[in-house]
Formats: sequence, structure tokens, C-alpha cells
Amino acid sequence: MNGAINAHQKPRKMIIAIDGPAAAGKGTLAKRIAAHFDFKYLDTGSLYRGVGLKVVQMGGDPNNEDDALAAAQQLEFDDLDGDELRTAQAGENASIVAQMPSVRKEMLGFQRRFAQAAKISKGGCVLDGRDIGTVVCPDAEIKLFVTASAQVRAQRRHDELLGRNEQSNYETVLADLKLRDKRDTERRVAPLVPAQDAHLLDTSKLDIETAFQTAIDIINSH
Ligand code: C5P
Repeated sequence: MNGAINAHQKPRKMIIAIDGPAAAGKGTLAKRIAAHFDFKYLDTGSLYRGVGLKVVQMGGDPNNEDDALAAAQQLEFDDLDGDELRTAQAGENASIVAQMPSVRKEMLGFQRRFAQAAKISKGGCVLDGRDIGTVVCPDAEIKLFVTASAQVRAQRRHDELLGRNEQSNYETVLADLKLRDKRDTERRVAPLVPAQDAHLLDTSKLDIETAFQTAIDIINSH
């Protein structure tokens, strides 16, 4: 015993930020990475999906910033789960309310508190979204930008919808994804863009296992 600390004993205190466009595989990847390191996980897209759904439930209009902010202020942890959040309509409404500065501001504190608390209580966390590495946790120890071609992402989303016995049409899914990409990348606040120090991971030709291994190698070499 020479007192050296091996890699497994090394205490890991890290925030892992995973950003990328819709259906790039970042959710699956983020969950597996969190499970692997026993870190906490937050799907930040569910916050915006939750707001979009709550506006409608409150009888408001997702395109109206006052209505969306009122919903954001009343959002609770219980609102972040459920099949309703996963529908194409919920994704569409999420990307509309996510353009609004007041809604994003309302979500920012929650995400930062979650990350810091998880770093202390669990040694680390994985957050996935669009602006984690750039805005929410710019000091994250690891940043991954996960992407794939629009065609591959549309095919994955199409298969996922069919797998859930939902109606789906590939061309419509592709058009919707392109619209959401445009909204997410062109909005004024916190647009979808890789952080300068992010590792790019294109999953177009990778299966989930290979993408996961690549991500783990990046994290372990940190
Ligand atoms: O990742 P997901 O598809 O669930 O995200 C839904 C929408 O929420 C995205 O299209 C994006 O507009 C918005 N979003 C965001 N910032 C995040 C996470 C999601 O603007 N950090």
C-alpha cells in the first residue's frame, strides 16, 4: 500500500451538463450516466413541458407570457412526471414557453439549487437540456453536447411514438423537429448552442451502448 488513491476511491464531486437538440438521445444517456455514478438526475426539459401543460390546465394561452409565467410560478415537483408530458403537443408548447425570458428566469434558480444540493448530498448530478453548460451550470466539470442528424432523430422519435401505440408520421415528426430546432437555436435567451468547452458527441451512427461508453470514457479521463 503506497497510499495512492485509485480511480474508484477518488471522491467525485461533479456536475455533468448534457445539452443537445430534441431526440438526440441525451435523456437516455443522461439517465444511464447518473445510474452508473449513483448521481442525481434532472431532465430540465420536463420543467418547460410542465409549464406548457400547466398553462393549458389553468385555462391560459402558451403564447401569452403572463399566462406562462403564472404557470411557471405554480409549478410543483409532482407536475414533472406523467405520460401527458411526453406527447408531441407538450413538446411543442414547451418550446414556445421556453422562449420567454421571465419563464426561463423562474426555472433558473430551481435548476441551480438542484445541482448544488445534489453535488453536496450525492457527490454529483447529471442535468440534461439545452442551456445547462452555457447558462444554468457554466462551471460544470463535464459538458457534453449530444447531437445527431435531423433524419436520425426524427426516425428515433417516430419509432418511439409507434412503440407507445401513438399515431405517427415520419414526415410530420421531421418537420416538427426542425421547427423546434429552429426555435431552440434562434431564440434570444439561452439559445441551444454548444458551450465552448463542451465535448461533442454525434450519435447518428452510434448505438446507445457505444454512446454511453464514449461518454463514460470522457468523464473518467477528466
Ligand atoms: O428535452 P425536451 O424535448 O423535453 O425539451 C422540451 C423543450 O423544452 C425544448 O424543445 C426546449 O425548447 C425547452 N428546453 C429548454 N431548455 C432546457 C430544456 C428544454 O429551452 N434546458
